[in-house]
Amino acid sequence: MARTQIIAGNWKMFKTIPEAQAFTQELIGSADFSGVEVVLCPPFPALWPVAQAVSGTPVRVAAQNLFWEDQGAYTGEVSAPMLREAGCRYVVIGHSERRQYFGETDETVNRKVKAALRHGLTPIVCVGERLAEREAGETFKVVERQVNSAFEGVEEAAAAGAVIAYEPVWAIGTGRTASPEDAQAVNSFIRGVFGGLYSPAAAERVRIQYGGSVTPENAASLLAQPDIDGALVGGASLKAASFVAIIDAARRVQTAR
Ligand code: 13P
Repeated sequence: MARTQIIAGNWKMFKTIPEAQAFTQELIGSADFSGVEVVLCPPFPALWPVAQAVSGTPVRVAAQNLFWEDQGAYTGEVSAPMLREAGCRYVVIGHSERRQYFGETDETVNRKVKAALRHGLTPIVCVGERLAEREAGETFKVVERQVNSAFEGVEEAAAAGAVIAYEPVWAIGTGRTASPEDAQAVNSFIRGVFGGLYSPAAAERVRIQYGGSVTPENAASLLAQPDIDGALVGGASLKAASFVAIIDAARRVQTAR
């Protein structure tokens, strides 16, 4: 069975609650969600308002981070059960900005993946090489290490339902997208690594997105690649019109699959 394209809008640290609500109303009023999965990733304060606004629609909500403990004296942190109660189905884990600015490591990513799965949240696990790593020819080595470590100790059934986002760090927010061929090569490699960890069936099932300067202009050629099952969109997800155009591209690709 063909994997369903999943288009997620990572708003990063943008949008107040009223801005998030206005965006969501515009999205619901203007997009056709048939055949694809659409996920919004607002900042923490807007999770519940956005979850309320999308209730009864196919749109799902993701947090951009979580902490691995369920509760406790961890000032400033938010747990998986709290996110579930706030209406989240997904959670982005290990985004390169968190690895770069907030000390996230392969080990903390693994703990967060397990916490998410324990509480019925689907992780969107971000992996991807930095520019210096790409230039040193280490892309495959880096993503292999990140994937292996993110899923260490995770059962096959849970892992196969997760989403992996390949986001080359040099392509994030730079306007410099990976070529469809390069992105396909890494996504296909990631699927192979996942198959080695689990089974060919799990590799066939797991969805692997591409992220990094995805726009309405380049979405179709990226999403048409056989191992690219959706996009994790930053900048272009902040305006309803450009996000809808990317959803439309995914819908056309899905129909052709
Ligand atoms: P941009 O689409 O702005 O490059 O951001 C990508 C990203 O980091 C999504 O998580």
